[in-house]
Amino acid sequence: MSKRDLLDFKGLTIKEIEALIDRALYFKKNKFTEHESHLLRGKSIGLFFEKPSTRTRVAFEAAIVRLGGHPIFLTPDNTQTNRGETIADTARVLSSYLHAIVIRTFEQTRVVEWAKSATIPVINGLSDLCHPCQILADFLTIFERRGHLRGLNLTYIGDDNNIAYSLKEGGAIVGMNVTIVSPKDSAPSQGNLLNIKKAATDADILYTDTWVSMGREHEEMRDNMLKAMFHDYQINQQIVDYAKPDCLVMHCLPAHRGEEITDAVMNGKNSVIFEQAANRLPMHQAILELALRGSSCDSPSSGLQ
Ligand code: CP
Ligand code: NVA
Repeated sequence: MSKRDLLDFKGLTIKEIEALIDRALYFKKNKFTEHESHLLRGKSIGLFFEKPSTRTRVAFEAAIVRLGGHPIFLTPDNTQTNRGETIADTARVLSSYLHAIVIRTFEQTRVVEWAKSATIPVINGLSDLCHPCQILADFLTIFERRGHLRGLNLTYIGDDNNIAYSLKEGGAIVGMNVTIVSPKDSAPSQGNLLNIKKAATDADILYTDTWVSMGREHEEMRDNMLKAMFHDYQINQQIVDYAKPDCLVMHCLPAHRGEEITDAVMNGKNSVIFEQAANRLPMHQAILELALRGSSCDSPSSGLQ
């Protein structure tokens, strides 16, 4: 059987996303059961991270331990990669010790190179292009709150980045209407506030993320120019008021309170931001199961379609 990588949403079907949500719900309900603790018994899973992480790293390490496996955290500094050992050689060697590896890196081509060179499953734990593990956990959060994904209107306000990309890619598969409003995409003649109001009106979900992603800091303009560019692209109470009264406010975290989102909205009644973060753990368990077993879509029953 060929190995099962998770590099982006392209390799995932609606049935598999449905099954991942089912399995994540199962893992939430059945903590530390016999089944759960045997799945990765005797298996070592690597995490090779070239960027910082709180949620992705810790939720994957905890997920691996809950499934009975052993996580090994690797960085360029504590391996030979910073001394010039290639991805191809590193991936080939690590494939003989590990059963799967989670990669957090810069260009998507690096994730693809890992996947091509490794004989074990490769999971994208965030690249400059996309963040599929985050958005799968977000779909779990939305499904728990709404009972379905198809037909929901999700409006993303902010930087058109890796989160926005995965929302668009994943949203297209599950049938969500994803609208991105970003200063980088807006024609200068369009009024920002008018655009944002139009996109936020009747939204089921409002989503935002940092204005400057990891690794982009040096490319971005001076702080005051950045703030001026993104000034209107903030989720605040006025924007929430345009959306449906029970709209879900989402952020992948880490947040810059007072920039892309206000304190009040982040702590407010519409916010599911900390549910999103908590859902990384059961979704990572489901993702590991999919990667290690090849498929977890035997008996989907979420009814996403
Ligand atoms: N949302 C997310 O991936 O967070 P970390 O960068 O802390 O992993
Ligand atoms: N867009 C952000 C997401 C962090 C989880 C970044 O890439 O830094």
